[in-house]
Amino acid sequence: MQDIAVQAQASTQITYGLVEVRDLTVRFGDRQKTTILDKINFTVEPGSFVCLLGPSGCGKSTVLNSIAGFVNPTDGAILVDKQAVTKPGADRGFVFQQYSLLPWKTTFQNVEFGLRIKGIPKAKRRELVGEYLNRVGLYNRRDSYPHQLSGGMKQRASIVRALINSPSVLLMDEPFSALDAQTRHMMQELLMEIWHEFKTTVIFVTHDIEEAVFLGDRILVMGVNPGHIKEDIVIDLQRPRHIDDTLTPEFIQISRRVLATIREETLRSMESS
Ligand SMILES: Nc1ncnc2c1ncn2[C@@H]1O[C@H](COP(=O)(O)OP(=O)(O)O)[C@@H](O)[C@H]1O
Ligand SMILES: [Mg+2]
Repeated sequence: MQDIAVQAQASTQITYGLVEVRDLTVRFGDRQKTTILDKINFTVEPGSFVCLLGPSGCGKSTVLNSIAGFVNPTDGAILVDKQAVTKPGADRGFVFQQYSLLPWKTTFQNVEFGLRIKGIPKAKRRELVGEYLNRVGLYNRRDSYPHQLSGGMKQRASIVRALINSPSVLLMDEPFSALDAQTRHMMQELLMEIWHEFKTTVIFVTHDIEEAVFLGDRILVMGVNPGHIKEDIVIDLQRPRHIDDTLTPEFIQISRRVLATIREETLRSMESS
């Protein structure tokens, strides 16, 4: 089967959102004795959706945080659109597992935040925030505070808060893992639609095989001790994908293959913990 995402990409000529990770090495601890990541190398093509999958503790968040500029690598380099990453920047949007909305601001104010910092005039801000909230079905909740929103609503607000700044890359760290199964499926489908619309590169961290196969063009399976890329698997399932597709033989076949790769690593990580 042809890679649909690659075709879509070629036709729309996405030119931003190239991520290059070169020999990324991260050591923590006393005199940097503990090697967390060892010479990680991968490239994410503009506009593609890549999942970083691996057992807990293998270093997924450390990879993502390095791309975000929250962690300074001990060695190696990260380039986003050929620019070396040295600190966090507006070209990289981030959605965390924990809801990261400011509790004292309304949904509207939370989403508006980045635009205010950029100095976008009030009328334009109002228009843009309205459009984005509408897109994810939150317009009617614009004056609610985070504690008045469900988990799914909070993550929808977090996603548009990141996207409204037009990042080249959207970095997502297990954003749906705290949600119940139904809400999680709904959010996965919504994310697919949004990604298709905005054409932003997405790097999505998860430990859930089904989620990775459902969402990704590619899955980078990470191994443990120290963290490394064990396998790079292309997911050539047709798009758009719907949650029912997770029951098809093709889907199950790919999931099995990923499971076989990851099982070994999960056992290794359990043995060492
Ligand atoms: N700031 C830090 N200082 C020391 N060790 C850390 C730090 N951040 C993460 N680690 C360690 O690095 C390893 C990988 O962590 P992490 O990237 O969070 O894994 P994952 O996201 O795959 O669960 C873990 O053993 C964790 O304890
Ligand atoms: Mg993590």
